[in-house]
Amino acid sequence: MQYNKKSVEDIDVNGKKVIVRCDFNVPQDENGRITDDKRIVASLETIKYLLGHNAAVILCSHLGRPKGEFNMKYTLAPVAERLSELLKTDVKLAKDVVGPDAKALAAAVKPGEAILLENVRFEKGEEKNDAALAREMASMAEIYVNDAFGTAHRAHASTAGIADYLPAVCGFLINKEISIMGKALSDPARPFVAILGGAKVSDKINVINNLIDKCDTVIIGGGMAYTFSKAKGGSIGTSLCEEDKLELALGLIKKAEDKGVKLLLPLDTVCGDHFGADAEPAVYEAGKLPDDMMGLDIGPKTVELFSNAVADAGTVVWNGPMGVFEFDKFAVGTKAVAKAIAGSKAVSIIGGGDSAAAVEKLGFADKMTHISTGGGASLEFLEGLELPGIACLEDK
Ligand code: 3PG
Repeated sequence: MQYNKKSVEDIDVNGKKVIVRCDFNVPQDENGRITDDKRIVASLETIKYLLGHNAAVILCSHLGRPKGEFNMKYTLAPVAERLSELLKTDVKLAKDVVGPDAKALAAAVKPGEAILLENVRFEKGEEKNDAALAREMASMAEIYVNDAFGTAHRAHASTAGIADYLPAVCGFLINKEISIMGKALSDPARPFVAILGGAKVSDKINVINNLIDKCDTVIIGGGMAYTFSKAKGGSIGTSLCEEDKLELALGLIKKAEDKGVKLLLPLDTVCGDHFGADAEPAVYEAGKLPDDMMGLDIGPKTVELFSNAVADAGTVVWNGPMGVFEFDKFAVGTKAVAKAIAGSKAVSIIGGGDSAAAVEKLGFADKMTHISTGGGASLEFLEGLELPGIACLEDK
């Protein structure tokens, strides 16, 4: 999907009230302390731009899935606190979303100041994209900015519906996400290599399908590789397998062949005799796993094969780990792939979620061209789907 949307730089925000949808859905520990503030940091460019251009900023976001009920477990209070620290100015948190407190704070916020509404998912209408809620939110502002890339695949009141009632543009984060990933899909530096992992073929069918149309090489690792292996007649022991996707896996292999796209599958597999961090790793040739062994990572020959494919790539897109990287003994393949991407000269794009977490954890983040802030959203973008939170914004 190619977008050419207006951004905050294309409109006059001076003296205006601007409601900004961010994705402040950040992980927290059991005491409510934020354990990773990257999504908050990623929103700062837009917020600072608006404050610096004399806009009165009304921020909003969801956090978790409170299902339309007010629940203090999901309050945005820790986010307001972190934002205040990062912006070095007090960001007041409203006690509600469109209630009297939000309305009063929104009416009082001055140019150069920012406030934050409470979790939009405390409102029942949010996930239903309820028009009345969208109108209420819109009534507090004169301009709508969407910068919540991580939530752009949701058609909710604060991500899409609100755009019916206000001039609607994107922020810098959405702009960056769609221009980098959009260029990779429409005009990539070649060879264009996609590395897809994760547990299930069913989660990635559409991405694999779409990327076979665009890439020179598609690499399949992770849990879903065993479904491909079995489809080709291999023995996969007790490894993960989606029996109802065997035909589909064969279809994808055939599609790649017909199009002259290299589809690389693992050559060898690191197994354990059970699913656990304490399992003893043993390497077998792919498709020749003993009946009682479970594939938990790619093996050393596969690491070499995948790393070589990445080494000469012009563009690499990576989504999904190569094995059970939560277990140290079975994190070797995922680490090696991350290292190979970090060491290549390719434009490197890391889908959100697990692969982003792996890259961060391994300290390769600054070696990547782009780490998406969206898990589900980046996947849907790579599938070629329209993202409602972006489609609703004004074209240039
Ligand atoms: C995410 O973390 O992927 C986004 O914030 C979207 O959250 P959701 O899956 O609860 O809609």
